Amino acid sequence: MTTPATSDLTALGKQYWLPVYKPRELVLDHGKGARVWDTEGRDYIDFGAGIAVNALGHGDPDLRAALAAQADKLWHASNVFYTEPPLRLAEELVSAAGFAERVFLCNSGAEANEAAIKLVRKWAAAQGRGPERRVIVTFRGSFHGRTLATVTATAQPKYQAGYEPLPEGFRYLDFNDAGALEAAFAAGDVAAVMLEPVQGEGGVVPAAPGFLKRARELCGAHGALLVLDEIQCGMGRTGTLFAHAHDHVRPDIVTLAKALGCGFPIGALLAGPEVAEVMQYGAHGTTFGGNPMAAAVARVALRKLGSAEVLVNVERQANDLRAGLAHIDHELHLFDEVRGRGLMIGAVLGQAHKGRAGEILDHAAAHGLLLLQAGPDVLRFVPPLTISDEETAEGLKRLRAALAAFAAA
Ligand SMILES: Cc1ncc(COP(=O)(O)O)c(C=O)c1O
Repeated sequence: MTTPATSDLTALGKQYWLPVYKPRELVLDHGKGARVWDTEGRDYIDFGAGIAVNALGHGDPDLRAALAAQADKLWHASNVFYTEPPLRLAEELVSAAGFAERVFLCNSGAEANEAAIKLVRKWAAAQGRGPERRVIVTFRGSFHGRTLATVTATAQPKYQAGYEPLPEGFRYLDFNDAGALEAAFAAGDVAAVMLEPVQGEGGVVPAAPGFLKRARELCGAHGALLVLDEIQCGMGRTGTLFAHAHDHVRPDIVTLAKALGCGFPIGALLAGPEVAEVMQYGAHGTTFGGNPMAAAVARVALRKLGSAEVLVNVERQANDLRAGLAHIDHELHLFDEVRGRGLMIGAVLGQAHKGRAGEILDHAAAHGLLLLQAGPDVLRFVPPLTISDEETAEGLKRLRAALAAFAAA
């Protein structure tokens, strides 16, 4: 069979997909490690990992074996019956997390956060708090998903415009503004504070030192829950299995997705003792949650992403990536700042190049590099956590060439 031309394939997307995405003009076909090949045989270094998802790279043999073994046994059972993989996964997540007692399994990040929002409200309701006292505080620049409730939690107007009426009960504050957070409790109506320990889509912005701790103290003092969205920054990406380990706080709820399935869709809500018994039979559900194929894969992902081998590599490659970015910037002077934690790195474009991250991504693809942006001004680096020295070096080489072409254009 002859390979269809790239333009024939992309034409299908342009004709038949709801045009909510703008993929680059290439069609990816297969991958190995941190390399991906397109349908025309060109190879790319993958610094994006499917938006921080393919944390074990492409073609990990253990993930493939787990999926194949489960595919031979049973694909789906629903939550009307037990299967072994999600039972084991829940136990392993609870054990890994330390703070959690129970787990709700679902299929995506938005679904995990939707469950968190509902859990907060149910908890507040169980305490006799009326709807007006179930406010969830979130932060500007956050990203929590695209369902109506999670896009409302996402304190970025660009994602909300046109979807009004939005659900009530959210209050937005500036990220890392501890004074504003303290003031937000004055009305006595806050049921939870929800935040990403490292904001991803909003520009790769880590919580300031002490901010999570302060949020924890304030939640404790005012009878509110601390909800951490670790969908992008969790699962080893920052160098610890859970991002909040850096801050030494004990959350009430943590949400996971993305790298939990390393490419197979799955999400999870982890519930601490304060909230673990709040949702009872019939209170929530989803047909595919705890799907045995997804859970079988996630068990492997959890084991491997929490291993010393992977976490040490995160630090090693993060150092190399940052050193490489500093070197490139020394030559080309494109960045204002490079920030982030572990292998979640943002390079903030300088004033002269603001708004042009998308153009740089085009140059990167043309030079054999898959790169992401986090908003119009930030290049986002979220490669597989297993990326090798050689792949990081090659990716940096291609990035330098792409940025030089951009600067010269
Ligand atoms: C921090 C965070 N929360 C939630 C989501 C939503 O996850 P999903 O796209 O799987 O619904 C994302 C996705 O980018 C995310 O980065």
